Amino acid sequence: MKRILVTGGAGFIGSNFVLMQRKDKGAEVANLDCLTYASNLKNLESLADDPHYRLITGSITDRALLRSIFDEFHPGAVVNFAAETHVDRSIDSPGTFIQTNVVGTFHLLEEARLYWGQLGADERRDFRFLHVSTDEVYGTLGPTDPPFTETTPFAPNSPYAASKASSDHLVRAYNHTYGLPTLTTNCSNNYGPRQFPEKLIPLIILNALEGKPLPVYGDGSNIRDWLYVEDHCEAVSLVLEKGQVGETYNIGGRCEKANIDIVKTLCECLDQIFPDSPNKPHSGLITFVKDRPGHDWRYAIDCSKIENELGWRPGQTFESGLRKTVEWYLQNSDWVDSIKSGEYFKWIERQYGQSPAAR
Ligand code: NAD
Ligand code: TYD
Repeated sequence: MKRILVTGGAGFIGSNFVLMQRKDKGAEVANLDCLTYASNLKNLESLADDPHYRLITGSITDRALLRSIFDEFHPGAVVNFAAETHVDRSIDSPGTFIQTNVVGTFHLLEEARLYWGQLGADERRDFRFLHVSTDEVYGTLGPTDPPFTETTPFAPNSPYAASKASSDHLVRAYNHTYGLPTLTTNCSNNYGPRQFPEKLIPLIILNALEGKPLPVYGDGSNIRDWLYVEDHCEAVSLVLEKGQVGETYNIGGRCEKANIDIVKTLCECLDQIFPDSPNKPHSGLITFVKDRPGHDWRYAIDCSKIENELGWRPGQTFESGLRKTVEWYLQNSDWVDSIKSGEYFKWIERQYGQSPAAR
C-alpha cells in the first residue's frame, strides 16, 4: 500500500484529495495540518475509524515534528497542500503567507531531502515530493493573451502569489541541486464541496441564501479559469503516479468566466431551486464594491501538457460541477454552521464592513 504524507489535508482541496486517496486509490494517508481557520475536521469525519488514515496536528514549519513523521510513517510520497491561500488576507496581513508558504515549504523540503537521502536505492527512486501550486504565479493576462503554459515567466502580483512562486522556485531548486524527485502542479481556481466561504463561489452561495449583499469587486469583469475540485485531485493523483520527475504540470478547466457571470449563474441556479424565495431574483442582491488592490484581470491555463502526456481530462463541466457544489452547500448545513465561528465573522466584518446586525 502506498503511503502518502499529505500536508494541509484538512482544508478544501487537501481534504477532497485525502478522501479520494482513501476511498478510490487505496493509499495509506498521514495528514499533517495545523488546523488554521480554513481547515475543518468535519471534512474528514468519514475517516474517523479508518485504520489507514491518521491526522497529525502540527505545522510544516516544525522541523522536529517533520523528522519524527518521516521516521515513523515512512512515506513513499509527500503531497504539499499546506498553505495560506486567500489573496485578500495576503493583502491584509502577508506575514503568515511568507511563514507557511515560503519558510514552511523550505523546512518540508529540507526534511524530505534528509529522509530521502537515507532510503535504499529502490525507495529513493520511487519517492516523490509533489508540490501543489497555483496559476497565480504567472501574473495576469490581457484579453487576447494566450493562456499560461508551463514556460510562461513567473510574474506574481499579490503577496499570496509571490509566496507560492517562491515555494515553486525552492521545489525546482531542490530537484536541480539535490536530485530530490519533485513534481509541481499549477492549477487554476477550484470550486466544489468544503471550500471556506471567504472565496467567491461559496461566499456568494451562502450570502444569497441569507438574502445578504453579493459583493462583486470592481465592475465584475475579471476572469478566472474554473475547475471542479475533484478534477484537480484526479490530476494531482495522476501526476504523482505518472508525472516526469522535475517537471511542472499546469491544470485547468478551459473554463474562463467573468466574475459577474459566475455570480449571475449562481443566482439563476438558486432562483430555480427556490422559486418561492423572498430573495428571488437573487441577482437583485448583487452589489458592486471597491476593487481588490492590484486585482489580476485574467487567468487562463493551457493544460495541453497534462492532457497530451498523461491523458488527463476533467470529469465535470462547469454546469454540472456548479450544480453539485450548490447542492453540497444546501445539504451540509452542519458544515456551514461549523465554519460560522468568530474567525469567519471577524473576516467578513473586516473585509466587507458588515456590522453584526447586517448578518
Ligand atoms: P485552504 O486554505 O482551504 O486549506 C489550507 C490548509 O492548509 C488548511 O487545512 C490549513 O489548516 C493548512 N495549513 C495552513 N498552514 C499550515 C501549516 N503551517 N502547516 C500545516 N498545515 C497548514 O487551501 P486550498 O484552497 O485547499 O488550497 C490547497 C493548496 O492548493 C494550496 O497550496 C493552494 O495554494 C493550492 N491551490 C489552490 C487553489 C484554489 O482555487 N483553492 C487553486 C490552485 C492551487
Ligand atoms: P477568490 O475566490 O478570492 O480567488 P482568487 O483571488 O484566488 O482568484 O476570487 C475569485 C475572483 O472573485 C477574483 O477575481 C476576486 C473576485 N471576488 C469578488 O468579486 N468578490 C468577493 O467577495 C471575493 C471574495 C472575490
